[in-house]
Amino acid sequence: MNNFQDLVRNRRSIRKYTEEPLSAEQVETIMKAALMSPASKGKNPWQFVLVEDKDTLRKLSLCKEHGSKPIEGCSLAIVVLADPFASDVWIEDAAIASIMMQLQAEDLGLGSCWIQIRERLTPAGTPADEYVREILDIPLQLQVLSVVTFGHKAQDRPPFDEEKLQWEKVHIGQYKLKE
Ligand SMILES: Cc1cc2nc3c(=O)[nH]c(=O)nc-3n(C[C@H](O)[C@H](O)[C@H](O)COP(=O)(O)O)c2cc1C
Repeated sequence: MNNFQDLVRNRRSIRKYTEEPLSAEQVETIMKAALMSPASKGKNPWQFVLVEDKDTLRKLSLCKEHGSKPIEGCSLAIVVLADPFASDVWIEDAAIASIMMQLQAEDLGLGSCWIQIRERLTPAGTPADEYVREILDIPLQLQVLSVVTFGHKAQDRPPFDEEKLQWEKVHIGQYKLKE
């Protein structure tokens, strides 16, 4: 990618991936982006579980009725955890780490998708975070925010259409209601 503007414009959620695994260097580069992400007071409350095992990916993909299918076909799922006792703004910190990984993946030419876990339910109506916690042996102290899927892109998505940007949501100087 030539510049950050192009990176931001081209990053779209990719939900279909080829079978090709990520290289160790690619995984390390993505993890570096997460570990370098800004966090309130430098507390770094996040932790990450990397999953490549196909059977585990399949089980994780069943964590919600809708929206979790991409986990099954991805090459790598990174489960983003955080410790609310380490930081009162763990959600913000973990969300920033998630998007940092997605932008890094795009820069490597890889696809990614954020799968929301926190506040979501399994098809049986139980909390999706509990379902993920059980599969991966996550200690009770840690919260599960998201699963971010990664892989080589098997679908083409157009860059953002700048004509559709919602400039009406941008207010100059003070908040103004717009027609
Ligand atoms: C907090 C958050 C939760 C999301 N949850 C899901 C999800 O559970 N499943 C999914 O397929 N996509 C999910 N997405 C991806 C959004 O659907 C996607 O970013 C949005 O539709 C805009 O499309 P784009 O990323 O291609 O630009 C989520 C994104 C965010 C930021």
